[in-house]
Amino acid sequence: MSSQNVVAIVGATGAVGVELIRCLEERNFPLAELRLFASARSAGKTLPFRGAPLTVRELTEGSFRGVNIALFSAGASTSRQFAPLAVRAGATVVDNSSAFRMQAEVPLVVPEINPQALRGHKGIIANPNCGAIISITPLWPIHKVNRIARLIVSTYQSASGAGAAAMEELRESTRAYLDGREYANKVLPHPYAFNLFSHNTRIDPATGYNEEETKIREEARKIFGDPDLRVAATCIRVPVLRAHSVSITFECEQPITPAQVRALLEDAPGVKLVDDPERNHFPMPRDASGQDAILVGRIRQDLSDPSGRSIALFVSGDQLLKGAALNAVQIAELL
Ligand code: A2P
Repeated sequence: MSSQNVVAIVGATGAVGVELIRCLEERNFPLAELRLFASARSAGKTLPFRGAPLTVRELTEGSFRGVNIALFSAGASTSRQFAPLAVRAGATVVDNSSAFRMQAEVPLVVPEINPQALRGHKGIIANPNCGAIISITPLWPIHKVNRIARLIVSTYQSASGAGAAAMEELRESTRAYLDGREYANKVLPHPYAFNLFSHNTRIDPATGYNEEETKIREEARKIFGDPDLRVAATCIRVPVLRAHSVSITFECEQPITPAQVRALLEDAPGVKLVDDPERNHFPMPRDASGQDAILVGRIRQDLSDPSGRSIALFVSGDQLLKGAALNAVQIAELL
């Protein structure tokens, strides 16, 4: 990493893009220049970086001249079109979309779990799905010492995962609901205020799982380097602005207790225990919002498994930070 870095953000005006700018600033990322790109709609807008306004430019084929590191968060089709151009221009790409994640030669990295996967990259590094990052980062310290063979996750996913427009839809539809006004949803497929619904991705007719659920299964296996990990996910969109929560039940190969899990997670990187049964204080998306750490609590034995090998817990993590921008900037720091 060098202070001569020229860093580009593609999708700088989006929900994740704005957090990428903030993470680079807060973590004092060494760079000589930051260039912001978005669609033609945003050309000329300014966004603040290190106390000065930076002008957003339209993304074009020539945008990557002189760029060393390009952080992409503008959707899979933009990544498919422009990430190879960025690599050809000499940049290393950290891509937040799903475009390249499952390609064998593309590292899929959570720095707390598999930083070694970066070695030998071919120019594109994939940032994992937010639900996958938030679900499995707290499980890695356990998996390392007592392999997790089976994982059942049920997500409570925030609006931010569907972008800035979905966050606005949550605010606007809630206002309309409280005012007794009709609201026609534009971004998400169902009414969002005071409601929840199955994740807004396509269902695979062969399996019955939606794309988000399939991503969590496949990405968990790739990041853990454990293709035999058994995973069943249920992904639900809830009316929360920016932090995902996940109810997780996992089965280890050997017996395990809640006390052992607490001890393993106490000093684990990227994780914070919030587990206070006396005060009934556990991870909440409001507390996780704006925090780098994934909050973990409700750690208890899964009583449905008499062998003593299963644990249930609950996590909340900021989708825009550890679920997206922070993880991408951590990858860029490793580069
Ligand atoms: P814009 O704001 O100009 O539409 P979000 O995930 O919050 O919806 O944000 C998506 C980001 O991706 C925005 O910054 C958006 O820019 C950007 N984007 C969308 N389509 C393109 C495109 N074709 N080229 C460049 N940037 C794009």
